[in-house]
Amino acid sequence: MKKLLATTLILSGVFTLTQAAEKYDTRAFRIVTKLCTPCHGTAFYMAKQVDADDWEYYFKKEGKLLSIHKKSPKGIASLKNALFTKHEKRLLKFFVNNSKYSGVVHGCDSNFCGTHH
Ligand code: HEC
Repeated sequence: MKKLLATTLILSGVFTLTQAAEKYDTRAFRIVTKLCTPCHGTAFYMAKQVDADDWEYYFKKEGKLLSIHKKSPKGIASLKNALFTKHEKRLLKFFVNNSKYSGVVHGCDSNFCGTHH
């Protein structure tokens, strides 16, 4: 019985830690940082510029992102990068979750420390 209790406590501890560690998708954060931040600012700053509907629109409307970046060869290169094409859905989710009006504000962690640019 004691063993069961200990296991339950450990499991719930691990669960809490995992949840705390996943306030946002760090993989998506890193991809955006690599591909978009040089022009758009930090991933969270970028996400906050428009609301969830606008993010859906930019990503879902066929060819929209490419045409917006027509004059920016480096932007096009980022959009054609396999990291972007393979994780497009994940990035959209990240942007939507952190968009304007989402109410999400991030403090310091190992990826990000509350700056806005
Ligand atoms: C080399 C610079 C550059 C890179 C890299 C870049 N962009 Fe852009 N992006 C721009 C510019 C410049 C505009 C504004 C175009 C305009 O208004 O005519 C823009 C506009 C946008 C817009 C329209 C909303 C807005 O802010 O005007 C979205 C959405 C967007 N970019 C997404 C992305 C995503 C997602 C990535 C990374 C995969 C990315 N961009 C990478 C330069 C870049």
